[in-house]
Amino acid sequence: MRNLIVATSNPGKLQEMQEYLIGLNWTLKLKPPEIEIEETGQTFLENAILKASQVAKALEEWAIADDSGLAVEALNGAPGLYSARYGNSDRARIERVLKELGDNQNRQAKFICAIAVARPDGSIALETEGICQGEILKTPQGKQGFGYDPIFYVPSHQQTFAQMTPELKRDVSHRGQAFATLLPKLKKLSP
Ligand code: IMP
Repeated sequence: MRNLIVATSNPGKLQEMQEYLIGLNWTLKLKPPEIEIEETGQTFLENAILKASQVAKALEEWAIADDSGLAVEALNGAPGLYSARYGNSDRARIERVLKELGDNQNRQAKFICAIAVARPDGSIALETEGICQGEILKTPQGKQGFGYDPIFYVPSHQQTFAQMTPELKRDVSHRGQAFATLLPKLKKLSP
């Protein structure tokens, strides 16, 4: 079995990513904390490619990275690429989005997830993107998940990401959509 380095240091994301990858013919390893990649890309996909490629090259191993975030329509796509840096804690980030949105009637939002897999020489073997459409609630609901989950309501399931079981979120989320197209290709790549 080949090693696959998971290039993230966000524990919530790491746990979700590991669950998608269980059962595959890859041995998952965590990125050592001393390898830090600056997210200087202009898009989620550019950042995922940057992280996967640089971690792969540094360790001379296969690597997988994702970059994701929330885009709120009435905020012109914010927090977008700055989702992780929109405040000092999940709570502060949620409060900032709710404050900026205020009573705006347009609550449309989407989560976006880009994933890239890099070969040990840093070249990109796979890339994909997944999207989940939803609405921003006025008050947080639910205790599961991480990040903006308590304010992200998915009308087709009538609950927020934070009210979903981890299994349901895994299926419907932006990360779920991205992994659905990625996993069959990743299986073909493993020896
Ligand atoms: P990055 O991909 O590590 O740059 O950061 C993405 C940020 O977007 C996270 O820190 C969260 O704030 C947010 N985010 C990404 N995916 C999710 C999710 O599934 N639920 C809630 N927040 C998310």
